[in-house]
Amino acid sequence: MTDRGTRPPVAAEPLTGSTGAGDRSAPAAAPTSTEATYPTEIQAEVDLFLAGLAFASEGTTRGLEEAMRYSLLAGGKRIRPVLSLATAEALGRDPQELLPLAGAIELVHTYSLIHDDLPAMDDDDLRRGRPTCHVAYGEDVAILAGDGLFAEALRLVLERQDGRPEHLLACVRELVAAAGVNGMVGGQYLDVTASADLDAAGVRRLQELKTGRLICASVDCVGLVSGLSGPDTMALSRFATELGTLFQIVDDILDVTGDEVSLGKRLRSDERHGKPTYVTTFGLERSGDLAEKHHRRARAALAEAGERTGTLEQIADYILTRRR
Ligand code: IPE
Ligand code: IPE
Ligand code: MG
Ligand code: MG
Ligand code: MG
Repeated sequence: MTDRGTRPPVAAEPLTGSTGAGDRSAPAAAPTSTEATYPTEIQAEVDLFLAGLAFASEGTTRGLEEAMRYSLLAGGKRIRPVLSLATAEALGRDPQELLPLAGAIELVHTYSLIHDDLPAMDDDDLRRGRPTCHVAYGEDVAILAGDGLFAEALRLVLERQDGRPEHLLACVRELVAAAGVNGMVGGQYLDVTASADLDAAGVRRLQELKTGRLICASVDCVGLVSGLSGPDTMALSRFATELGTLFQIVDDILDVTGDEVSLGKRLRSDERHGKPTYVTTFGLERSGDLAEKHHRRARAALAEAGERTGTLEQIADYILTRRR
């Protein structure tokens, strides 16, 4: 599919009430294009791999493993691991060889979701179509399930990912950097401490860290573990940066215009907490335009990234048009 005629899901649902400070009087945009095809066969491979993971080596901690698996196997889109496997394909590698790394990135992402939903953070009770981890298992166990997923992610890469030691080290270093203070956790800190009138540059930076860095790592770690860097992976890195921004713009739009059943999470979580988002900063219309701009840039970067980028193109189109 080409990017011609695609639109982010700006107004899938009729809008009621305020859509944010920047958008008080903006009319709802016209209904948008249909969802692009997602590489569900790769998603299914990831699901199978994740379902085969076991964490607890004794009966006493099985309850913790159950909580971890409850959130992990609840049916996320698997965008990050699918991106990793599609990047492997683009670099001429067998995607199967990258499953431990891809799985580890999904573990880190799932941990971030469990903690994001906690009462002290976004206080959400629905995730991936199920009661959130803390609703099902209690806050104490949910916190530990998140901690456990992060540590087990590192164990998974270190024990099961093939690669030369120096390449593995570079890859793990990038993964933890993307998860840390200069990545996802730092972005989450900005998110929980930001005031609603954060300026546009502040919103961009917040989103870049909380969501963008892990999406970038999903691409960059594959290059690093393959011993590739610099010119070999530059275009792919630029693609990932654009994709990360696109991803969060659409997430913010869907928080307002989405459908709770398709999304598997509550609508208007951002508004409930007075969160500064792309929608509150730029309004729905301009956020839609921005999403298209970053999608175009992502596709342009891919055009410079070699021959085998078909699946990555599909992912970019899906992220622009997704409804879940
Ligand atoms: C949602 O991520 C949280 C953000 C980082 C914005 P996804 O939309 O990828 O959630 P799942 O993994 O499909 O549930
Ligand atoms: C969550 O962002 C980002 C991370 C978990 C790192 P959001 O709070 O916007 O995600 P959703 O909308 O709850 O999925
Ligand atoms: Mg949040
Ligand atoms: Mg949230
Ligand atoms: Mg959100």
